[in-house]
Amino acid sequence: MHAHCCVTGSGRYLLGMTDSPLSVGLIGAGFLARARAAAWRKIAGAEVTAVCSRTPARAASFAGDEGVPIAAADLDELLSREDIEAVDVCVPNRAHREVVECAAQAGKHILCTKPMAAYVGQDMEGEPDTAAVGAVDRAVMMEVAVADAEAMVRAARERDVVLSYAENWIHAPSIQRAAGLVASSGGSLLEMRGWESHSGSHSEYSMQWLHAGGGALLRLGAHPIGAMLYLKREEGLQRDGSAILPVSVSAEVADLTQNAALDDETCRVARGWVDVENWGCCVISFSDGSRGVAYGSDNKLGGMQSKLELSGSNFHLECNLSPNDMLRAYASDEGVFEGEYLMEKLDSAAGWSTPMTDESWSSGQFAMLEDFRDAVRGGSTPRSDGELGLAVTRVVYAAYLSAAEGRRVDL
Ligand SMILES: NC(=O)c1ccc[n+]([C@@H]2O[C@H](COP(=O)([O-])OP(=O)(O)OC[C@H]3O[C@@H](n4cnc5c(N)ncnc54)[C@H](OP(=O)(O)O)[C@@H]3O)[C@@H](O)[C@H]2O)c1
Repeated sequence: MHAHCCVTGSGRYLLGMTDSPLSVGLIGAGFLARARAAAWRKIAGAEVTAVCSRTPARAASFAGDEGVPIAAADLDELLSREDIEAVDVCVPNRAHREVVECAAQAGKHILCTKPMAAYVGQDMEGEPDTAAVGAVDRAVMMEVAVADAEAMVRAARERDVVLSYAENWIHAPSIQRAAGLVASSGGSLLEMRGWESHSGSHSEYSMQWLHAGGGALLRLGAHPIGAMLYLKREEGLQRDGSAILPVSVSAEVADLTQNAALDDETCRVARGWVDVENWGCCVISFSDGSRGVAYGSDNKLGGMQSKLELSGSNFHLECNLSPNDMLRAYASDEGVFEGEYLMEKLDSAAGWSTPMTDESWSSGQFAMLEDFRDAVRGGSTPRSDGELGLAVTRVVYAAYLSAAEGRRVDL
């Protein structure tokens, strides 16, 4: 399954390249890659130079639409280009490990989308099928997904390239400001509650374990989990130089749309989940005795909600990534703001809404790309590194194991 890797330069500082913009290759030409191409255009000191996918025509049409100068024929061709210093990995979960290992081998710095690793039947002989993958023991899933994430961290370390885990929550202005306030408070973070919820993914792929590697807990809950692990890590490092780590996880998962009272006429949340949960909640216990309660849900109407509440010994903070009410709008009917993007997953534009003034800013996407650029160019450790992506993978799959076996899982 592993592709041939083209090896080019290695090392963190490429002489003669530091004055020019960071040259980024996009790997993947789908939904996320389009969003990233738009975001990279707004980042000073960086530019997307090339794109690839497995289908040359898809990469070529993406390059034409997005103004990317080079559509590489495939991954090897993109990685063999000496003018590319870093890659932004926007491929499906199944391909993360292989692509990251090849990129590290080629000496490219790496930004890898979330989840860093997932269980999608990669340990099975031949082409895995839906029924077989969804039925795999959660302990096996955890072992395989964690091993993949560990291999990615190892590959980057061996080649001394930056591996950043692309968790936008960690970079969101509200969460970064909150982290600063926690540090200045002198107090301790006792309880964190965070969730990402909306009315459901309509992508066929997100409905099957075979493609997605999990449901709402992985797809949505991974965001608050990532932020919680980051905040506790930072709290410990600042206090006495040692990270506060997750030590155990308890969880529940469910498909809430199995409710027999739901009908096609009145139900507005996504349905048709094959074998993944559309609701998941986990309680994470940390080494200092604090707790994090994180959940992801595909059952909330009214637009995307991404929130994190931080209760401390001498403070309380509430981070709103979405919605935030910098702008509140009222429309007397659905058509008033026709053609305008108001916010992600808003099911109706009639009545009150909170149009996002700059979603890429408030969600942390811009700060995330800037942090990656600075880590590559300045030699700093990215705020959200591969180790953090690995830790999130471990917590999410421990949560699946906990939910399946009805017990707390020690990490
Ligand atoms: N908020 C977030 O952080 C966020 C949001 C959305 C998605 N994501 C993540 O982004 C990833 C991609 O999701 P998506 O929705 O963009 O999927 P998508 O629309 O299906 O796009 C995937 C792209 O990757 C290409 N591809 C697949 N395997 C490849 C390989 N081995 N080498 C090179 N290109 C390959 C595909 O084209 P070919 O078939 O031509 O190869 C396609 O262009 C997933 O891991 C998802 O979890 C994260």
